[in-house]
Amino acid sequence: MRERTPVFIALAAVLSMFLPAIAAASGDGGKRPGKTNPSAQVAHGKYLATVSGCHDCHSPKRFTDKGPVVDENRVLSGHPAEDKVPPVPKDLIAPGKWGGLFTGMLTAWAGPWGVSFSSNLTPDRETGIGGWTEAAFIKSIRTGRTPGGRPLLPPMPWQFIGRMTDRDLKAIYAYLKSIPPIRNMVPDPIPPK
Ligand code: HEC
Repeated sequence: MRERTPVFIALAAVLSMFLPAIAAASGDGGKRPGKTNPSAQVAHGKYLATVSGCHDCHSPKRFTDKGPVVDENRVLSGHPAEDKVPPVPKDLIAPGKWGGLFTGMLTAWAGPWGVSFSSNLTPDRETGIGGWTEAAFIKSIRTGRTPGGRPLLPPMPWQFIGRMTDRDLKAIYAYLKSIPPIRNMVPDPIPPK
């Protein structure tokens, strides 16, 4: 996997150009959250989640004449369960050929790792991260594993996101806990054939 890292960095760069609408979402103007001000912490988390690209992969999109934009009614709810993906054509993804494929919503990803689906990050208890503690959230992103211990698959860029400070990851967690819970059971990854 290690030699493929540059491809993912390039992909992330492409994605950020692909979804300019996300960049238009406003931040908190750089204000620092106070320790005792939960609403400032949530605002800081919203700002970080916006500028660090969580929506690129974790939010379903609406298709407009200007291209895909985040579906405000399904923010960060992951790959929609009803959005079935077609089988990956044989021999398309191989060394010297294509490195991967993704769906129009950028929520399902095929590569040498099989097919991965962006997780539901809303606070729904059953299908999202509603049951996760703050410590479990930070540990998952720092170690690149689900709380159950399964390694997180590409293209989740935990190697980079995991370098955020505790304060920033706590703020993202606080923001994620503040958004509406959406019931959406994201499919399990499909192992490579
Ligand atoms: C380039 C796409 C991409 C970006 C950007 C991205 N993620 Fe992910 N993320 C994924 C995918 C795909 C998975 C599922 C991986 C798997 O199933 O192993 C995932 C999984 C996760 C998980 C594990 C959830 C679970 O239920 O196990 C967390 C937590 C997470 N992402 C948080 C974030 C946050 C927070 C951001 C923004 C700071 C972010 N991700 C940005 C693609 C991305």
